[in-house]
Amino acid sequence: MKIGIDRIGLYSPHYYVALADVAAARNVDPNKYIIGIGQTEQAVPPSAEDVVTMGASAANEFIGDIDTSKIGLLVLGTETGIDASKSGAVVIQRLLQLPMGMRTFEIKQACYGGTAGLMAARDYVAAHPDKTALVIAADIARYGLASGGEVTQGAGAVAMLVSANPRIMTIEDDSVFISKDISDFWRPVYTDLALAKGKYSTEQYIEFFQTVWARYQQDTGRTLADFAAANFHLPYTKMGMKALKTALPAASAAVQERLLARYHESTIYSRRIGNIYTGSLYLALLSLLENTSALKAGDRLGMFSYGSGAVGEFYSGVLQPGYTDLLAAAKHVQELDARTELTVPEYEAMFNNKVPYAADDYATDPKAVVGAFRLEGVVKQERQYRRNDK
Ligand code: COA
Repeated sequence: MKIGIDRIGLYSPHYYVALADVAAARNVDPNKYIIGIGQTEQAVPPSAEDVVTMGASAANEFIGDIDTSKIGLLVLGTETGIDASKSGAVVIQRLLQLPMGMRTFEIKQACYGGTAGLMAARDYVAAHPDKTALVIAADIARYGLASGGEVTQGAGAVAMLVSANPRIMTIEDDSVFISKDISDFWRPVYTDLALAKGKYSTEQYIEFFQTVWARYQQDTGRTLADFAAANFHLPYTKMGMKALKTALPAASAAVQERLLARYHESTIYSRRIGNIYTGSLYLALLSLLENTSALKAGDRLGMFSYGSGAVGEFYSGVLQPGYTDLLAAAKHVQELDARTELTVPEYEAMFNNKVPYAADDYATDPKAVVGAFRLEGVVKQERQYRRNDK
């Protein structure tokens, strides 16, 4: 039985800052950010947006088109959850007015949470082929103003419906994965800012890729020549390239050229949105599908997922007939183009205006959100969400 991604939706905040401006403010050569790291713009979320509102907005792109009574599982993969106990998935269920008869929970393993959700969904559909699963990968990447990781911040969500006989891409039963307890990136519960050993994390990402890719080749007998494209988890767009380049020398010049061209297309959205942690690999997939005419049904795509701490997984997907009919390239580009650009002081003010890590009541700016849902604020330590009537 084929199982995989039947629908895919995207949401990212309406505000962004240009990294050339951030570079100027931090006294850094802009080419370090734009060429060296590979980021041009960065989404900036107002405090009225979090993983719940962004995740619900991403799913809202297709929720009206699907039979919601068939959803048996709703998983939120995130490392920027809104509560240490209650899952954001339950709130998303209510905001999307989904039926009660489903399992809802949140998964955390750094940037691997989206893939963990997708694989749980795949197993669920294998056991219940008449049901579907909604997987949402949503995150806000925050390292701090003027920090080393500032250039790799971002915010957004990708929502995917997993079903039997999927219309976009299968998730093949060929996954290879490893886990190892390391400290390359983490976020203690008392802070909303991530900590990272940048160089070490980069090395580990590459090492995990090389390990799972070598095992994948052994297990399946496939080589790079079997892939029309390879998508990578993208904390910044240069990162996946560093891993891909370690595998390329084994391929012919034509295969190398093909994979490099597709890689470039897979990074177009990330360059403008930035790091969305759990959703980054799926943002790369969406960017590739919506920005190339070089793929066709039957093509096999590689998918490398990495979540610090750390888990690495490589699997493949096969594009399905008519998959382009279910994409929304023009809408996504229009939404990115329509965003409001912030000056660096405006970005810094938005960054610092956040829901407090304290018991205080808090109100968000009602005008700040263009998505379908917003956080109104916090009253007596309960977050208040609503549909955004603008
Ligand atoms: N023009 C062009 N390129 C330039 C440049 C310039 N003026 N100045 C620097 N660069 C290049 C460097 O050569 C380097 O390229 P390379 O990685 O191909 O060698 C790149 O820009 C980054 O420079 P570097 O000095 O290594 O940056 P940094 O010490 O500020 O670290 C990160 C960059 C990404 C590691 C850092 O931002 C970070 O810690 N990010 C968070 C951690 C993270 O995302 N880890 C991955 C998790 S999966």
